[in-house]
Amino acid sequence: MFIATSTSNGLAARLAKEFDDKVVRVESKIFPDNELYIRIPEFKDDYAVVVSSLYHPQNDHFLELLFTIEALKGLNINKIIVVVPYLAYARQDKRFLTGEPVSIKVILSSIENIGASAFITVDVHKEKSLSEWLTIPYDNVIPVEEVAEYFRNIRNIKVLAPDKGALWRARLIAEKLGSKYDYLEKVRDRVTGEVKIRPKHLEFENSNILIVDDIISTGGTMALAASCALENNAERVFAYGTHALLVKGALDRLYASGITDVVSTDTVLSPISKISIYRSLKKSLERFI
Ligand code: R5P
Repeated sequence: MFIATSTSNGLAARLAKEFDDKVVRVESKIFPDNELYIRIPEFKDDYAVVVSSLYHPQNDHFLELLFTIEALKGLNINKIIVVVPYLAYARQDKRFLTGEPVSIKVILSSIENIGASAFITVDVHKEKSLSEWLTIPYDNVIPVEEVAEYFRNIRNIKVLAPDKGALWRARLIAEKLGSKYDYLEKVRDRVTGEVKIRPKHLEFENSNILIVDDIISTGGTMALAASCALENNAERVFAYGTHALLVKGALDRLYASGITDVVSTDTVLSPISKISIYRSLKKSLERFI
């Protein structure tokens, strides 16, 4: 049975349909003192797939997910597959400054400890976090097919990663598109969060550039990468970020930088979430169900 929390974004229902199974929506209300109450109104199966994306307000959604897993344990469901399309706190994967927590450790350990038997996420910031903090089976789904499909008709396309750490993703998509790929050198100030891109010469004449990254938050990284591509004579610039958090006027920042089109997936709902990742999730789930 598929369990949709308030942030399933339709994915629980789409997946349930693919597996010819039922979707149950978690009921919830907020008590006068602001505490969360949830209930799973019906259940009959020996396994559960919970779909819950942890975008803003992520702390509330995280608690809803933990309560849902605990409620399933209470229903004696032993196989609980937790699907978190957008995994919050994944960027705080180490103590960058003394005194900081490893936030992603708290998120993943809690999900496992409360009762998850398998974990699936989409394009997590660093896959290493999963092996570091989970002992249950896991998968990190990269929707390469869907992204390549979306951009397939753009001619002379080259894929660009905004930093070296994102190069592997650019390579995967470029290989699907049969195109070249490259990366920029990005530096982020750990205290102010300010991002700078070191100048680099790129052979972009007569090319359409597709910048790919995991997260579009303020859009600052993409906008800088786009300006860099246009300064290097790119014809048009397209942008893809798996998770469209879109904070602080991100879309205006992106289009003002000269980007022609920016798209994202339905891990987070936004005006640019045009690519659904449910087929990739289905493939991943087949390994666990
Ligand atoms: C950081 O390393 C991530 O991969 C993204 O590049 C970053 O989170 C994007 O944030 P923003 O849109 O605020 O530049």
